Amino acid sequence: MVGLGLPPELISPLQERYEVMHWSEPYTMPEAMLREWLSDARGLLCALSTPITSRVMEPANQLSVISTISVGVDHIDLAAATRAGIPVGHTPGVLVDSTADLALGLMLAVTRRMPEADRWMRDGSWAQGWQSDLLLGTDLSQATVGIVGLGPIGQAVIRRLAGFGCKLVAWNRTSKSIAGVQMVELDEVFTMSDIVTLHTALTEDTTHIASRARLASMRSGAALINTGRGLLVDEQALTEEVCAERLMAGLDVFSVEPLPNHHPLLQQDNAVLLPHVGSATKATRMAMVDRAMANLHAGMSGKRLPYCANPRVYLASAIS
Ligand code: DGY
Repeated sequence: MVGLGLPPELISPLQERYEVMHWSEPYTMPEAMLREWLSDARGLLCALSTPITSRVMEPANQLSVISTISVGVDHIDLAAATRAGIPVGHTPGVLVDSTADLALGLMLAVTRRMPEADRWMRDGSWAQGWQSDLLLGTDLSQATVGIVGLGPIGQAVIRRLAGFGCKLVAWNRTSKSIAGVQMVELDEVFTMSDIVTLHTALTEDTTHIASRARLASMRSGAALINTGRGLLVDEQALTEEVCAERLMAGLDVFSVEPLPNHHPLLQQDNAVLLPHVGSATKATRMAMVDRAMANLHAGMSGKRLPYCANPRVYLASAIS
């Protein structure tokens, strides 16, 4: 089997069961090399950082499972995997609370300017005195928060925000009734809210759901929070809004990861930026690894994956 960027403690238990080829370099494996490695592999254990394209799968005639240590599968060409009869395993359910906590953290960090205040202290600015208008922010308790997407993470964010007493408006692809939440049109989420937080999966339909026009329609001084996927946002348009100091942003995900070192957002105090750590707690990562291993072992032994992202693959197959 092939492992891509796995934590060291996973390697030995895998080596006890399988012949393992492991890519441990800090950069993404070149596509040509991955094609070669996969040409006689039966399993692939990967994470988000390597695109598993249809080209990569072309020579993978023996591959009986792709298991990713993530709930998101947008880095894998799911349609191509299904066509090739390869089940794809992922890790749903276990990262809801950690990601919702981080979204709340970003809302507070942005509205109360916490990283900026921390930088201000560390560069010795406090020695110049304290004034009553120092680092003023805005109150989450008085905000209207707009939630885009009412899946498990969006709903977990709502449960947390209920404790803050904010006004809550939301949009979901199919209407949902949640106590204390006003369902509105997608465009209205952007025009009505002081904070918009994105919790939809990335699909063709949701790419740039936070479009240039919707960002432009947001209230001046409002904040966009994204713990989903970078491509949910027109990042160029958001960068312009943030650099013009019209909007604030709290971002854990970017359209290109890692975010390039020269990116203009890195210069902005009104943007709080994190390196895709929504699910990065010890307990959540262990739970994700458990699910990914269960998927891998099932696939390697010809069994149905317990957490399969493309269950249609089984319709045309003999595996039950
Ligand atoms: C996922 O699992 O899809 C998260 O974005 C990363 O942990």
